Amino acid sequence: METLKTLQTFDLSLTINGKAWTGRIPVEETLLEFLRGRLGLTGTKRGCESEVCGACTVLVDQMAISSCNYLAFEAHEKSVLTIEGLAVDGRLDPIQEGFIQNSGFQCGYCTPGQIMAAKGLLFENPSPTRQEIASWLAGNICRCGAYPGIAASILEASRQGEKEKF
Ligand code: FES
Ligand code: FES
Repeated sequence: METLKTLQTFDLSLTINGKAWTGRIPVEETLLEFLRGRLGLTGTKRGCESEVCGACTVLVDQMAISSCNYLAFEAHEKSVLTIEGLAVDGRLDPIQEGFIQNSGFQCGYCTPGQIMAAKGLLFENPSPTRQEIASWLAGNICRCGAYPGIAASILEASRQGEKEKF
């Protein structure tokens, strides 16, 4: 019985938004559940829970992933970045500034996922074309249809001369 219990939990160590976290979690806990339920980081949104809408996007070791379809233990000894960790010393990330300046959102529900997906894109490709942005964000649905503003926001962020931050 004790062996079974041990198999059902995992001793997790990871970094969340620059801070170390260690604890025991159920192996079936998704990263989305871990972030929202265990850590109270509710900026990461729950949508389809089927890896379709992109609302739950976060970065793991700078790669954009759908946290609804990613088990928390898979992030063991990795670095997780969520929307709450994007501003540095109270200064918004250029992508966040871009969304404000270019009306990159309406209701805002999809926005954290859009921004984190964009962050992953700019890590990989600091100067994307509009077409590359559209292709990269194909998995991030905006029910409000704010796509033109989203693309403009990311283009502006990529042009800002702050590419060293990406
Ligand atoms: S909630 Fe994860 S992709 Fe929709
Ligand atoms: S801004 Fe409302 S869903 Fe995208």
